[in-house]
Parts: sequence; structure tokens; C-alpha cells
Amino acid sequence: MNTTESNNRNEPTRIANEIADHLKAYSGMWQRHPDTTTRLLTTREDLQQISLDLTPFSASQTYDDASQFFDSVTSFDDLMAAYKKAKASKKFEPSDQVLPYAETFLQACFDRARQVYSDEDAALIAEWVKNLDVYAAVKSVECLLDTKDNLALFNLARERDWTILFDHLAIRCSSTPGYDAKAIAEMLVEEHGYEHPQIDDELHYVFDDGWSAFPLYKTLNNGITLRLFVDQSDYGFPEQIIQHWNRVYGYTAHHLALRATRIEQGKKLAVPLADIINNPEDTGIKALQPTGYYTQGLLEQVFLKPHLNKEVPKEITSQLNALHENLGKTIRNGKLLELVSRRELQNDIAEKVYALNGLKYDPENPLHSAPMYAYFLPAQAAHVIQTSLQTQFLEQAL
Ligand SMILES: [Fe+2]
Repeated sequence: MNTTESNNRNEPTRIANEIADHLKAYSGMWQRHPDTTTRLLTTREDLQQISLDLTPFSASQTYDDASQFFDSVTSFDDLMAAYKKAKASKKFEPSDQVLPYAETFLQACFDRARQVYSDEDAALIAEWVKNLDVYAAVKSVECLLDTKDNLALFNLARERDWTILFDHLAIRCSSTPGYDAKAIAEMLVEEHGYEHPQIDDELHYVFDDGWSAFPLYKTLNNGITLRLFVDQSDYGFPEQIIQHWNRVYGYTAHHLALRATRIEQGKKLAVPLADIINNPEDTGIKALQPTGYYTQGLLEQVFLKPHLNKEVPKEITSQLNALHENLGKTIRNGKLLELVSRRELQNDIAEKVYALNGLKYDPENPLHSAPMYAYFLPAQAAHVIQTSLQTQFLEQAL
């Protein structure tokens, strides 16, 4: 390895140290990690210490967005045609182990959307998804057409002059070899150019209640970094919901996570979660219990109210109830949105993060965002999956 290569290899670590020093200098809440300078520790409300690695994700390559498919959409029919073309242009997940109902569910969602979404709504969706890659664009169209409530944040953003950014998609897999999270993650790496993070601790999250996940990343030429959270039920946990959700709903995303940023005097700023969900006006945004305030804005997360699916066929709910009395009910928690907030880096460090991927950072570019913390926190993922199982909304609606 020559000196230049060695310097390049060490650059993410140098950036992480700079972020850690900056955070430590401005708040006494952070503590140094005893083993590594790239991590800081903070204390959660329940006094558990949480460790965050500040090393930025660095991609080995950057990719084109999906604008070739979605650029000229002006109507609902255009959006559906662009969606189908984009989907046909790449390999997607196999559906052998998924119930035929998954296709019925998606078709019913599109048929319903055709009745309630205007051409302007469709153009807004296309305008947003065209900046993602084909995979994220296809999955995001499915999410945004699931219920018109999902456009509430976009409408609020227009009023407040915020930019809505893609944060991540959660793709649920089976526990069956070949259809599990590892197999799907491999397909996403090979066919869609996603990458595993370069930090060992962020490669694979394992939860003690029977599920696990592979996070994947991809950086686009337009400056957007895409994140996928590919999860599965672990073998030997027949009651764990993820595998059943996958069988019923297929690989349509369980949730799409969005975040908002704004520009103030040449600086990019994250919109805190509280500013979105504690709105005094009736915005149509109904949030469950948020988490992550202890990270001082590095990663705040909340699920919005799950969309109740009253149309799961009776034979499916009976089969699930035979496995566990609650599964037939929780499976009706269909797709949903998550809101995220990730504190932005100051311009000089953001420039260094973008330079890792050969990109030039421009804080005035609405698509550019350089969060201080790039990853998922298992401690929070466990919280949000629990809230996604809440059924009080279902009970109110039935
Ligand atoms: Fe999520």
C-alpha cells in the first residue's frame, strides 16, 4: 500500500475522530468509548449506555438515479407506466414462497390509489422517486400509493420550505434459506449495487427476540445515500412476525423512512422529529411513540400510524391464529411510514464526507445531506418494531 492509498483508507477514521471531538466539545452528555476513538457513548433514559460509531459510510462506487423512468410523469397513468418499466428493467426478489395474496394486495392498493390520487399527486411522487435508484424508486412508489395520508409530510414540507429526503426502506424476508435476509441482501448487492458497511459492528444486527437484519448502503451521483434494512425472522422462532408479514405482503417494503432538512444561511440543518410530530395544526401526521432523543439528534425515529388492512383473507388469519393468538390481528398492520431525524454535519466536515465518494458537497443542493451518524441503532430498531405491533389503532378502526 502506498502513502496515498493509506491516507485514503484512514480518511473515514480521521473524519469520525473530528466528529467525535466536535460533539464532545459542545456537550457533556457524550463520553469517549474506552476502546476506539471513532465511537462515543451516551446514556439512554433507562440508563443503558449506547455506543454510536461516527465513521461515515464510504461507497466504493456511485450510481445513476432513476430519472430516466420517472422524468416525464404528469399523470397517474404515467406514474404506473414508469413504475412498471422501472420494475421490469432490473431483477427483483423471487416470489416463490410468497402467498398469491401479496400480488392481490398490491393490485388493490394501486386500484384504490387510482380513485383517490390526483395527477398532481402522481407527479409529486415521480418528482421525488426519480432521485432514488430503480430499486428504491419502485418500492417507494408502492409505499407512497398505499394511503394518501402518506403524502401529508410532503404537503407540510411544502408549507415549511423543508426538503423531504429518503432515509431507508425496510424489506422483510423469510426465515427459509434462499429467501432469508442474507440471500436477499446478496441479490441487492449483485443486482442493484448496494454495499455492506465497512464497519464490522454494523454488518449484521442480531436481536435476542428472534430476528436479525443486514443493513445495506448505496451512494448515487446526485449525492443521495440510500439505506436498506433487510430483516428476517430467525430460524426456530415460528411466532416471530417478520416471516409471516413477508409471506402475506411479499417484498413490498414494510416501511419507508423519511426525514426532513432545511437550509439556513448556507447551512444544512435536520428538522427535529418533535417539530414534525408535535405540530399544533391538524397535519394528518399521527405518530406512535418516538425514540432516540438521548442521541441529541443523531438518530431520532418514530413510526406513523400503521395502515389497517381489513382485507387479509380469513384463511390466512385463521392459519396465523393457530400459530399464536395475536398473529391474525397484528398481520393487519400493513405498510407504514417512519419519520427519522439525523443531525447534519457542519459544512467543512460534510465536504470531506462527500469527497470520500468523489462528490462535491453543496449545502444549498436540496438533495445533499451529510448526517453525523450514518447507521441504525439496534437499541432503537428493537423499540420501533415493538411499536409497529401495537394494535390500538386497529381496535379503534374496527
Ligand atoms: Fe426503520
